[in-house]
Amino acid sequence: MKTQVLPVNDASVALAAELLQKGELVALPTETVYGIAADARNGAAVEKIFKAKGRPQDNPLIVHICGMQMLDGIVSEVPARARKLAAAFWPGPLTMVMPKGSEVSPVTCAGLDTVGVRMPSHPVVQAVIRQSGVAFAAPSANLSGKPSPTNAADTLADMDGRLPLILDGGESAVGVESTVLSVVGEKPMLLRPGYITKEQLESVLGEEVIVSPAILEKLKDGEIARSPGMKYKHYAPKAQVTILRGSLDAYTAYVRAHAEPGVWALCFDGEGKTLPVPYIEYGKNHDGATQAHHLFSALRELDKQGARIVYARCPEQDGVSMAVYNRLIRAAAFRVEDV
Ligand code: TXA
Ligand code: MG
Repeated sequence: MKTQVLPVNDASVALAAELLQKGELVALPTETVYGIAADARNGAAVEKIFKAKGRPQDNPLIVHICGMQMLDGIVSEVPARARKLAAAFWPGPLTMVMPKGSEVSPVTCAGLDTVGVRMPSHPVVQAVIRQSGVAFAAPSANLSGKPSPTNAADTLADMDGRLPLILDGGESAVGVESTVLSVVGEKPMLLRPGYITKEQLESVLGEEVIVSPAILEKLKDGEIARSPGMKYKHYAPKAQVTILRGSLDAYTAYVRAHAEPGVWALCFDGEGKTLPVPYIEYGKNHDGATQAHHLFSALRELDKQGARIVYARCPEQDGVSMAVYNRLIRAAAFRVEDV
């Protein structure tokens, strides 16, 4: 299949809408990362997403909508917490897991009786949904296991020949995938951290948000993942990544002691110049938002540079940094060392 990459304009948006209506795939920008869209009601269309990504069949997809009226048929009920959070954070990078509606294909939800729904703020997504009338399922546009793409070139690198159209809408602003919150249980539970933070959710809800244990640690054998996506190795570059937790001085000393050809540093802005190995800087220290914006493209760049071993500076674990830490420990296959 030939993959077209088109700039966003009326004609390309109309083509994207037509492809979705016909049950085809379209890759497109969102404010978080690029996604691969297919009609969430059309099981045969959604199956093409799993095939294009090489994604495990038991990992459910998020349904994207452009207005509250679209929830009809997508969810069977809008819990009170979801209404509150939608008023505060939609459109935006928040996904809520709610009771599944009858119109969503079981393929989209991997057979679960819940569905993750989000209303993106990106104007291209909104235009495509509005023109097509299609609520679409869309995972990140990477091959399964690779870092999520945050621009059209990285999307093409993974999806060339696998789908007919990529809309090029420039860089994604946020850089990590949406926050995923379940509102079906007794207490709200954070399943994946993102740009909308635990602290922000708690302040709107006026109650504690439980953090799923899979977010910051490796699941023990036999433990059940609430969010199936959390159990897979994820975001992994080819290099072996290790996170070093400690001061910049201790980090520098460790890297110096382990410097050899193929070793790279993944550090914060301004820190690279004194290191004895090549480096990529991925945002400001103590600034989760800039780190989130750069992390995935930095991981992809390490691959392009042929890095074999990567020592990464450790992000914090609160606010937006929780999302950065969550992605980075998976890229590091949970290797974290105190230095
Ligand atoms: O920002 C985003 O959310 C991007 C853009 C394209 O919108 N999409 C995205 O989708 O990250 P994906 O498929 O890469 O990640 C979806 C995550 C997975 O961890 C999945 O397990 C979880 O959401 N998820 C989806 N539906 C769920 C459900 N019903 N229950 C629990 N977890 C669910
Ligand atoms: Mg993904």
